Amino acid sequence: MNAPHPPFHEQDHGTPARASDTLVTLNIDGRDVTVPAGTSLMRAASEMGTSVPKLCATDSLEPFGSCRLCLVEIDGRRGYPASCTTPAEAGMVVRTQSPKLQELRKGVMELYISDHPLDCLTCGANGDCELQDMAGVVGLREVRYGMDGANHLAAAKDESNPYFSYDPSKCIVCNRCVRACEETQGTFALTISGRGFESRVSAGQDQSFMDSECVSCGACVQACPTATLQEKTIVHLGQPEHSVVTTCAYCGVGCAFKADMKGSEVVRMVPYKDGQANRGHSCVKGRFAWGYATHADRIMKPMIRRRITDPWQEVSWEEAINYAAGEFRRLQADYGRDAIGGITSSRCTNEETYLVQKLVRAAFGTNNVDTCARVCHSPTGYGLKQTLGESAGTQTFDSVMHADVVVVMGANPTAGHPVFASRLKKRLRQGARLIVIDPRRIELVDSPHIKAAFHLQLRPGTNVAMLTALAHVIATENLIAEDYVAQRCDAASFAAWREFVSRPENSPEALADVTGVDAALVRGAARLYATGGNAAIYYGLGVTEHSQGSTSVMGIANLAMATGNVGREGVGVNPLRGQNNVQGSCDMGSFPHELPGYRHVSDATTRAQFEAAWGVTIQPEPGLRIPNMFEAALAGSFKGLYCQGEDIVQSDPNTQHVAEALASMECIVVQDLFLNETAKYAHVFLPGSSFLEKDGTFTNAERRISPVRKVMAPRTGMADWEVTVALSNALGYPMNYTHPREIMDEIARLTPTFRGVTYEKLDAMGSLQWPCNEDAPSGTPIMHVDAFVRGKGKFMPTRYIPTDERATRKFPLLLTTGRILSQYNVGAQTRRTPNVMWHAEDLLEVHPHDAEERGIKEGDWVGVSSRAGETVLRATITERVQPGVVYTTFHFPESGANVITTDSSDWATNCPEYKVTAVQLTPVAQPSDWQRNWTRFHAVQEKLLRQRETTPVGVMGK
Ligand code: SF4
Ligand code: SF4
Ligand code: SF4
Ligand code: FES
Repeated sequence: MNAPHPPFHEQDHGTPARASDTLVTLNIDGRDVTVPAGTSLMRAASEMGTSVPKLCATDSLEPFGSCRLCLVEIDGRRGYPASCTTPAEAGMVVRTQSPKLQELRKGVMELYISDHPLDCLTCGANGDCELQDMAGVVGLREVRYGMDGANHLAAAKDESNPYFSYDPSKCIVCNRCVRACEETQGTFALTISGRGFESRVSAGQDQSFMDSECVSCGACVQACPTATLQEKTIVHLGQPEHSVVTTCAYCGVGCAFKADMKGSEVVRMVPYKDGQANRGHSCVKGRFAWGYATHADRIMKPMIRRRITDPWQEVSWEEAINYAAGEFRRLQADYGRDAIGGITSSRCTNEETYLVQKLVRAAFGTNNVDTCARVCHSPTGYGLKQTLGESAGTQTFDSVMHADVVVVMGANPTAGHPVFASRLKKRLRQGARLIVIDPRRIELVDSPHIKAAFHLQLRPGTNVAMLTALAHVIATENLIAEDYVAQRCDAASFAAWREFVSRPENSPEALADVTGVDAALVRGAARLYATGGNAAIYYGLGVTEHSQGSTSVMGIANLAMATGNVGREGVGVNPLRGQNNVQGSCDMGSFPHELPGYRHVSDATTRAQFEAAWGVTIQPEPGLRIPNMFEAALAGSFKGLYCQGEDIVQSDPNTQHVAEALASMECIVVQDLFLNETAKYAHVFLPGSSFLEKDGTFTNAERRISPVRKVMAPRTGMADWEVTVALSNALGYPMNYTHPREIMDEIARLTPTFRGVTYEKLDAMGSLQWPCNEDAPSGTPIMHVDAFVRGKGKFMPTRYIPTDERATRKFPLLLTTGRILSQYNVGAQTRRTPNVMWHAEDLLEVHPHDAEERGIKEGDWVGVSSRAGETVLRATITERVQPGVVYTTFHFPESGANVITTDSSDWATNCPEYKVTAVQLTPVAQPSDWQRNWTRFHAVQEKLLRQRETTPVGVMGK
């Protein structure tokens, strides 16, 4: 993809754009300019190409008016108003330059400079400092006050944050950092402490950044016009010399970043102002945690071994690929065509994922392909397809700024989708109301300047009962959008749904014993959702990862349709996707029953289209899902697996079961950056490339296809897509792509919703939301606008069926799981960055009551046992969880969080029930048996890896 090379200093208009239907025309420096009412004079001037000097203003923040550098003259007005805080008015005549203004600005700059270290030549910001720029702009040549008066030059630096430093001696107290933390990030970690000359920026209660509430999003660093807050990489490496715009490879928000480069070295990642998903904001992961790409643990050469007890041998790419292909063909000859399969990853690009499913269907000749979305959002795909007709969310992230009521269900956006959370918090601070449905008191329930109107703190596993109770209130209190439903929804299914939810046994009162939530709260929340204006639902894995995950998704869609909340700005059904490309991996045909574009393999017309393009016969029956692959492996019929970018041993439930299944297989090919948990069971290791090393696209939770651009050559010599191509060719099925662009062209040719997607259009438009085709050449920000994709919206029944995982005498507590901000998924990337300073281990949250009953104290080691297994975690005692519920994260392999989760799963999709596991806790003094075994196995595998250099090449042939 041709990377746009944005100028280093993207244009800064000084104050945010204003939206108004009223336009005003004024005259600035002799030229007329027309702007929306409310636009500042500074911005009006900037839009016509005139920059007014500024320091405290930047267009990502509301104006503050403190530096007095942006003064202008206005005919008929006394004095010299600040152009950043003065709105444009019709007929105004403004001058931005005059001898008097020049003199005033020089005076302001003199004061700043007299209290500033004049070490520009050795300062990390040299060449990228607005103070330096402004000194030049106002023509400052001398400082009359001298440098020996009172100053802050000796103030101590705060180096506590691993990624940026704070040097108060360079602070000009412009307040941009404070406003960025408040307005952009919504954390309110910074204040200006002291008064007058003594005033300085302070994190928390005069704490270090690391000890404060700061979540290291970097917004203050980006906003700082001087070197006061600065990335440590810039201090060490110096200023970048070119930049490339690409997309974050962590979560489903899909933030656009400017990779600032020095040659082929990344100097920093800066959130891109024109990024349509993130609007110039970021979180600690995308902004700072990219060092894993050059971590010493990365495996750079292909490796093979016959048995997992053998040392690895480094071999050439050709040898590794030929060995893998030979093994796959041998296994098919020995055990049958269906004895092998592949797993795609939501961390990989669309193009890579498409190629893996094509390899499985065309070169392997089976449909045994599945994706890690199986274990997260497969119920979303199923549930939304059934009800609305398309397996995707309905809105843009921007749409939340039009919502009046927001429901967050089974999601923790401040940890999992932080940039979206910041936008949501901004809307909530503007007055939108919030309903949180979650067993845990997530941060949004009560955080700075935000308080949820309702927190329905339900018992884990009762989502369907809760959604039905909410529907009961809406149906029985005449809160249904009757006209909308009559016009847009299927009448018979609606009538059946209305009758069902209206039954007395589905009232909040009748279900209170099940959900554990006071009926009055449920009624209040239902009324607010149905009558509070534009109402949007955002949900996450706390909805999908249940035995009734698909039913819950359908219950959410039912609520949205019944209240008329689909098809316009500010409303909708919005799944928050965990990994960067969950949406894309599903779109690309990774599921065993679907070809790209969610078309069933049993459909002969679809098959014929792909068969014609690929020149093969495609099997008409769905292949094995991931859990079925494990079952078949244990039964002896599934023997080989190609696993790209996915760590199934750590991320799938019931670890011991998964490990046994893998250990029973004869050829596991893992393509990844590191020797992850799955690779310890592998026979072929194909080194993967990071997102910095390849071209392609990711599709985020908004259906937004964004470009991933190569900023450095693949460090292993081959990009991931090239490896799949080579494997396919070695298997005898030719693939002849020379660039991922050609793969996207094929996807577009074969997939109606992608028909209009090209790399050229992505370069020109920045990103595209599918469907993008003849009907919507520029993409589709909001879905189901005039009608549902399936025609009439279909209401689906939502009978609550309690999960088998319920509290018993033996296992009286319910364990639920989630993520934290600084770590990502299995942690393979973030554990290899300084992010471990925030979270170095998975902790078990226990309510004080449950802890006291068991004699568990803060920091104690606790044995957690379920019917699947046992592990040991360190306890933290907190009222974030309710009595009877415990909670942990799953970012560290040695924690074994998935040793205890069971293989119970969603009835429709087999998505595992990660969110409910019945457990018991006991204080213990040593790791569990599983952990001791893991430690031994890990040590052996690390040793076998270390021995790889000393093993002579060619042993495999003997
Ligand atoms: S890094 Fe983010 S959270 Fe921390 S102080 Fe700066 S803006 Fe606030
Ligand atoms: S730290 Fe930077 S942004 Fe904050 S007040 Fe000081 S100079 Fe301004
Ligand atoms: S992890 Fe998510 S929110 Fe954070 S920068 Fe990356 S895409 Fe944005
Ligand atoms: S830029 Fe207007 S007062 Fe600082």
